[in-house]
Amino acid sequence: MNNEERGILFSDEYQKSLKAQFCYADADPEHGERLFFENSGGSLRLRKAVEVKAQIEEFPDCPERVRGRGYELSHYVADGTKDILETVFGAKSGGLLTELTASQSMFQAVGTIMTNVKWGTNAVTSSLEHPSAHDAVEFYCTQTGREFRVVPANKTTGGLDVDEIMKYVDKDTVLLSIMAASNISGNIMDIKEIARRAKEINPEIYIVSDAVQHAPHAAIDVEDWGVDVSNFAPYKFFGVRGCGFCYVSDRVCALPHHKLIHKDDHVWALGTPTPANFAAMMAVIDYVCEIGAHFIDSTDRRTLYVEGMHRIHLQERALLYRMLEGTDEVPGLRHIEKAEVYVDMEDLTYKDLIVAMGIKGIEFADLSQKYLEHGITVFERLNTSPYSKRIVESLGLEGAIRVSPLHCHGTDDIDKFLKATKDIAETV
Ligand SMILES: Cc1ncc(COP(=O)(O)O)c(C=O)c1O
Repeated sequence: MNNEERGILFSDEYQKSLKAQFCYADADPEHGERLFFENSGGSLRLRKAVEVKAQIEEFPDCPERVRGRGYELSHYVADGTKDILETVFGAKSGGLLTELTASQSMFQAVGTIMTNVKWGTNAVTSSLEHPSAHDAVEFYCTQTGREFRVVPANKTTGGLDVDEIMKYVDKDTVLLSIMAASNISGNIMDIKEIARRAKEINPEIYIVSDAVQHAPHAAIDVEDWGVDVSNFAPYKFFGVRGCGFCYVSDRVCALPHHKLIHKDDHVWALGTPTPANFAAMMAVIDYVCEIGAHFIDSTDRRTLYVEGMHRIHLQERALLYRMLEGTDEVPGLRHIEKAEVYVDMEDLTYKDLIVAMGIKGIEFADLSQKYLEHGITVFERLNTSPYSKRIVESLGLEGAIRVSPLHCHGTDDIDKFLKATKDIAETV
């Protein structure tokens, strides 16, 4: 196994310098010291993103003016749109659809395709999708009288097999929606290969990929993946709440969609945009590019961003490996008696830093509470929640504790989590 397969850690000093850029990374001001290992539910906030959002919100000016402060504010929307499309999505064309949440953007994009494309008798998604992606496809299948098809998950790996997906796609499939990475198992899907194989069956198919959970862990590349739609949520990506960003390809922009009649097809924004949200996202992009610049020399923003995400990914893989295997001092999850890692797999190159686990003999909600008492914030994803029922059941589980640290955490944080797990397991 080479280094990359087990990840590559940042130096301690560099990791600490990154963590220092996040708000409340180690402690909540009222609840005290805690490890925030619930980044899948909403990630640690980058201080610069929060600050710039607050600064810009102070100005009363309309961000659509051609002079003065209003003009300055308009730059965040124009430059931010370009930055998000080109740097985060890696798009060379297409448009940016913005909504209050990533879920809304998914419904908007899927609805546009499903209601305007007149051919096709079915649409396909998977049992692992977040409700926003799954339900958008189901809703519009019902609306347009198409067959709704759901690909089952691989219960052993926690992912989706390309061959299995292709059994559900045929020449009459109008749309295929497969997430870039699972928010429960952490599995990364091979979107590029999925899109390629689906287009072999039907070259006109629309490919949609929910990248909400993958975006904070690795680079998105809509061109390389060959997708028409992909989205992310800044609040899960070091940024702020209150917006969802979605890439839509040229051919989706060309379909009739909600827009002002006299605006270009690529302008999906309705009403006055929020410059502060764009500025906050640009602060996140700056941060990732600075990580890239720590490792390579380049003046190209996308190149720096891709390198930054690659380094983040390697750091997270190394943390994941340590969490699973442990050290001589503290056993990893795979080796703690009574601890269970669900849908575990040897090859960590197919995992983001999200672990589904449990401890035999403890209810999931009680286990989350015990972790909290040990100073660790995690969350249980259960079959009693409408957000996770279908997903956990499709993995053959009743539920799981979802453990999701971030690249800015260090090995000391992982060890603290492992010691707490061992302590809790020993008291059962
Ligand atoms: C994979 C995935 N997609 C979509 C969403 C929805 O994001 P939002 O809350 O911005 O609608 C989530 C949120 O948990 C998610 O995990």
